[in-house]
Amino acid sequence: MPKLGVNIDHVATLRQARYLGLLDSPNCEPHTLEAASACERAGAEGITVHLRADRRHIQDQDVFRLRNSIITKLNLELGNTSEILETALQVLPDEVCLVPESRQEVTTEGGLDVVKNAKNLRKTVERLQAAGIRVSMFIEPMGEQIVAAADLGTEAVELHTGAYANATPEFREDELERLRAAQKLATEKGLIVNAGHGINYDNVRALLGIKGWNEFNIGHSIVSRALFVGLENAVRDMVRLLKE
Ligand code: PXP
Repeated sequence: MPKLGVNIDHVATLRQARYLGLLDSPNCEPHTLEAASACERAGAEGITVHLRADRRHIQDQDVFRLRNSIITKLNLELGNTSEILETALQVLPDEVCLVPESRQEVTTEGGLDVVKNAKNLRKTVERLQAAGIRVSMFIEPMGEQIVAAADLGTEAVELHTGAYANATPEFREDELERLRAAQKLATEKGLIVNAGHGINYDNVRALLGIKGWNEFNIGHSIVSRALFVGLENAVRDMVRLLKE
């Protein structure tokens, strides 16, 4: 059964909508620490946050405080820039997932181009690993990206499931097949294989037909369901599906 990592960025999105620049206000809510511990109580085995260069949701203080309070695993997503890298090296998360990032995007679009950016990524991977941080890369389910990530000595990859999640019914099976082939290749390369982006309570079922996943990182669908059933129940519902 894949583990569940919950991405709580959108808890911070809701907070920032009202308390931008007012994080020390006594009324400030919802709290990322409370969200993380609710997820952990409900069976999540990791908490993921993305510290974006524009700080649109998660702030530096969230990450430092989460580091001290999380009892499972902190996975920090970051773009490969020196400013964010220095912060990661101070926070010392259990794992870093390197992602592509552009200011205009609504959410992470596409995977990291490891082939094209191998030189810059190599230095970052080395620095993170020297600090004892496990490194993952968020990549498209493509053979050349998997081989390039393995060549850089990264421990894990997270396969981008967005194309599968957004595919019309006629293309869904093709996208699943791409994920299946990529999962197999990455496993053969000795990588830990995670998946994420656009996974919800419906499309997760077919993904589970592919064996060998280590972890699913899921954010938007869980936080959305939490509005109606509460965060612990939303996480529990997903954990139940993963166990089926
Ligand atoms: N994995 C990565 C690398 C991401 O960038 C995101 C989105 O922030 C997720 C997983 C979670 O995606 P979603 O919010 O669609 O579940």
